[in-house]
Amino acid sequence: MQQLQRLLTGDRPTGRLHLGHYVGSIANRLKLQSEYDCHFLIADLHMLTTRPDKADIEAISENARQMVLDYLACGIDPARSVIFLQSAVHETYELNLFFEMLVTVPRLQRLPSLKDMKDSANLAEMPFGLLGYPVLQSADILLPRAHIVPVGKDNEAHVELTREIARRFNNLYGEVFPVPEVLVGDVPTLVGTDGNAKMSKSLNNTILLSDDETTVRKQVMSMYTDPNRVRADIPGTVEGNPVFIYHDVFNPDRQQVAELKQRYRQGAVGDVEVKEKLAAAVNAFLDPIREQRARYEARRGFVDEVIYDGTLRMRERARETLLEARKAMGLTGVWNRISRKAEVARKQREKSSVR
Ligand code: TRP
Repeated sequence: MQQLQRLLTGDRPTGRLHLGHYVGSIANRLKLQSEYDCHFLIADLHMLTTRPDKADIEAISENARQMVLDYLACGIDPARSVIFLQSAVHETYELNLFFEMLVTVPRLQRLPSLKDMKDSANLAEMPFGLLGYPVLQSADILLPRAHIVPVGKDNEAHVELTREIARRFNNLYGEVFPVPEVLVGDVPTLVGTDGNAKMSKSLNNTILLSDDETTVRKQVMSMYTDPNRVRADIPGTVEGNPVFIYHDVFNPDRQQVAELKQRYRQGAVGDVEVKEKLAAAVNAFLDPIREQRARYEARRGFVDEVIYDGTLRMRERARETLLEARKAMGLTGVWNRISRKAEVARKQREKSSVR
């Protein structure tokens, strides 16, 4: 049998996932899960780059559980994919250090994502570890020697850096790593319900995959639309309107969407009707996910077992990669030469003291 190519992606365990995660990355994971040998990481070390407090660390286990429940609820199959806890795979730290030697500080400083993360975490200065965020991410990706990385638009530049690191490593030491391809979702960034460019928990403009029907309905009914349209008979703008962006993504009834758009443009439909139909569509989209989630939640300890088993499997793969990397770099040779001499010296000393 031909060996499958490998896929790696992951999320910081900040809790439950939202619709933006789904369209940005989860949908691609589901599509690719049967074609690739998949690895999904719970990026708790990355969380430390902006939130190193003890209380945040204590919250990781429960947040990770909730996030993995969302994965499973969406249809990620734990029998086929490796779902693992980053901080429990120590080779990650080691590979990260090797890669730190292959990147310059200005290259990292040019990444706008890092400055954004620093600002949204209210940090006055850039922590050393946060500057290294994409280097650590490269270690994640190259640890299972992944060929493909499905991520949201905001992570595209980090995968580009990973490609540079892989090439640089291979040039210096020999071919160890594939140069991975990035795969950005159909909806690279989903607008928030408030019209903000991005759905994000800190902005309170999300719809969670685990939200119940009433919550979803409430959030949809309060969504930002065309602000000029104070009455139903005023012609409205469909382009860039969050309510219609969501209709396009989540309402499979294309004919209904086309008809609503037409009436909206003519000023012949109320916001309430447009939103009612959207709430129904989003709820229909989420229903099977909620059902699956409830089924997995009822199996006590199941999620923990999934993470446990996945982490043990990942440790094996990681050990193999690190052995290859250390060999290619010649570090294994350094240690071998020293230990061989030490052993010879020790034996000779023991022999002479016996006499
Ligand atoms: N940076 C990702 C995020 O925004 C999380 C992450 C960490 C990741 N390591 C990764 C994504 C490796 C893809 C591949 O949350």
